[in-house]
Amino acid sequence: MAKSLKIAVLPGDGTGPEVTAEAVKVLDAAAAKFGFKVEKTEYDLGGERYKRSGEICPDSVVEELRTFDSILLGAIGHPDVKPGVLEKGLLLRLRFELDQYINLRPVKLYPGVPCPLVGKGPADIDYVVVRENTGGIYTGTGGISMQDTPNEVAVQSMVYNRFQVDRCLKYAFEYARRHGRKARGRGEENTVGLVGKTNVLTYVYDLWERAFHEMGQKDYPDVRRDYYHVDATCMWMVKNPEWFDVLVTGNMFGDIITDLGAITQGGMGIAAGGNINPEGVSMFEPIGGSAPKYTGQGVINPLAAICAMQMMLAHLALDEAAAAVEKAVMTVTGEKLKGMGAGQMGYSTSEVGDLVVELLK
Ligand code: IPM
Ligand code: MN
Repeated sequence: MAKSLKIAVLPGDGTGPEVTAEAVKVLDAAAAKFGFKVEKTEYDLGGERYKRSGEICPDSVVEELRTFDSILLGAIGHPDVKPGVLEKGLLLRLRFELDQYINLRPVKLYPGVPCPLVGKGPADIDYVVVRENTGGIYTGTGGISMQDTPNEVAVQSMVYNRFQVDRCLKYAFEYARRHGRKARGRGEENTVGLVGKTNVLTYVYDLWERAFHEMGQKDYPDVRRDYYHVDATCMWMVKNPEWFDVLVTGNMFGDIITDLGAITQGGMGIAAGGNINPEGVSMFEPIGGSAPKYTGQGVINPLAAICAMQMMLAHLALDEAAAAVEKAVMTVTGEKLKGMGAGQMGYSTSEVGDLVVELLK
């Protein structure tokens, strides 16, 4: 019997629904071609529903989402809703409650995509960031006291325990063994680089560094280990991105460096990521936001959402389909699109989806 996937679709806010529609279109085309079935259930979570009903994400929806094979998310963020409300109430809540403790963000420059780094091409920019996704400053540990007085104090703590650090490192080492440079036939070694700030954050990144070397030495002696401070990482991501293979880091640093990574691979029109629970339900999303000013114009680039869907196929072990979608996207970037930015593609949002679908037939 053909494999059947149960997918929850959360188009979300702004341009989220437009790009998600294209990702779903390509998913359906891949299913037809590779002989699997897809059963989709759409949820209207996001800013509009919140404005209408005051509801961000009912508990019952979180429970339902646990029963899917995967979740496809468009974008979260609404201009009429105070920043933080939807992000915390929906996106971060799902990441936390579904224990999606890895945020996997490939930084891969596809052919034909304009790159802001002088002299760098697809051979130089091809690595992944494994961002810890449920801990660190993002846990919201902290508070404000003596508000509105001259002595007001605000605390936001970076909290990690060994368990969280170990499971993230393990994912990074395993990923390097399976998909690192050597595994991909691109070099002599598979490498994990830890990104930290051991010179200042002498508690948290000391824990990360000790755990990194202990685990590496004991369980992954075949994987090379590098260490970079986060500030220097930003420099090398611009100057020598070819050094990197698999980078692993905490939640906040991972958030920041993956926006830098995204712009080196052509920007938010193409950058995708996966919120992964290796033992549970994962959620795939374009890295960019809801881009409200482009909503409804058909000018937004859907490739990031299509690439997020492609990561979902790979995660669900539909390797042939995942490879075919990636190849189609690479042909579209290499031979069709004029640019990656909104309104600069030379095609509308749905035409870009059609181009990918055509190449899958
Ligand atoms: C991201 C986003 C989110 C984050 C926001 C929207 C909460 O920037 O996915 O990188 O900080 O993780
Ligand atoms: Mn971010």
